[in-house]
Amino acid sequence: MAKPIYILNGPNLDLLGKREPEIYGAQSLADIAQALEDKARELGLEIVFRQSNHEGELVDWVREAGEKGAALIINAAAYTHSSVALLDAILASGLPCIEVHLSNIYRREAFRHHSYISKAATGVICGLGSKGYELALLALAERLKENR
Ligand code: DQA
Repeated sequence: MAKPIYILNGPNLDLLGKREPEIYGAQSLADIAQALEDKARELGLEIVFRQSNHEGELVDWVREAGEKGAALIINAAAYTHSSVALLDAILASGLPCIEVHLSNIYRREAFRHHSYISKAATGVICGLGSKGYELALLALAERLKENR
């Protein structure tokens, strides 16, 4: 069976829909997961969709993705701007990785302008809301097909 694409979400993204909806939109994380499951099925792909508020758990999941997954989509949320551990885990995984942010981090506070994750990312999508995850999935689907 083909390996799944891991879609990992960092801290406070479990509050989507309730948390600053003017920035992050009205959709819940469960809504986003469902839409991605549907899209993945259309594309003939498997996904593993998870969220954690804990940096170490995210590191463990990136490492799991490196062993069991074909590619990674990650919205590391606030850890984007602080986590060398996540950067190292993504680099070690060797996976194609797309970094996603719902909001346009470059239009926000200066501390959000730097991402540690980007150095390990094949591509970065931000500012397009939940559509960003879908576009990342499409891009990885094409990439995986080409490399088959
Ligand atoms: C975010 C942007 C981060 O700066 C922030 O800490 C988040 C969400 C986004 O999806 O726009 O929690 O990653």
